[in-house]
Amino acid sequence: MKPHALEVIQSEHSTLAAVLRSLALMAEQGPSNEPERFFDVLRAMLFYIDEFPERQHHPKESSLLFPMLVRAEPQLQTVVAQLDKEHQAGEEKVRALQQKLLAWELMGDGRRARFIDTLQDYVRFYLEHMSVEEEHLLCAAPLLLSSHDWIELDRAFNSHRDPLATGIRDPSFERLFTRIVMSAPEPLGIGRAFESQAGQHT
Ligand SMILES: [Fe+2]
Ligand SMILES: [Fe+2]
Repeated sequence: MKPHALEVIQSEHSTLAAVLRSLALMAEQGPSNEPERFFDVLRAMLFYIDEFPERQHHPKESSLLFPMLVRAEPQLQTVVAQLDKEHQAGEEKVRALQQKLLAWELMGDGRRARFIDTLQDYVRFYLEHMSVEEEHLLCAAPLLLSSHDWIELDRAFNSHRDPLATGIRDPSFERLFTRIVMSAPEPLGIGRAFESQAGQHT
């Protein structure tokens, strides 16, 4: 049976990948004639990335899972060092995206390309980061870690649950959850699609 912590990590990766792909798709399509809803949902999605993966998921990987794996298999040190570096860079990258989104919203379409370029780099960076974790670490983890390690990991990864990944709504994040799911178009949310009308970006 797959360890619980592994399921949590993989489910959070899937959710993050879906959020990233939706963000990129929505940004490409632009606000059309609904700038308020458009910027509102993009802001909420960036906040989600800052709040859950950056502050909950990554610190537990870096402080708990990675050291356990390196102890069990020292050859993983090189890949772990690179992933740790990416965790450290992640928060600053989200801040830059939030700032560039605000610039697009407040300064207009002239700032759109800078946000889109930064977002595309970020989405590539993040999908690659998760794919390295899955290929190099998560696949090997069941063979390398002891049952004692898994008890500790299960406890840690169960201490927070991502409301988008689990559907469990922490009241303090209810507003964020509702905003994303209700406003974002499919496949992430249930909101209606933004009309794609070229030349109407605000
Ligand atoms: Fe990570
Ligand atoms: Fe991860």
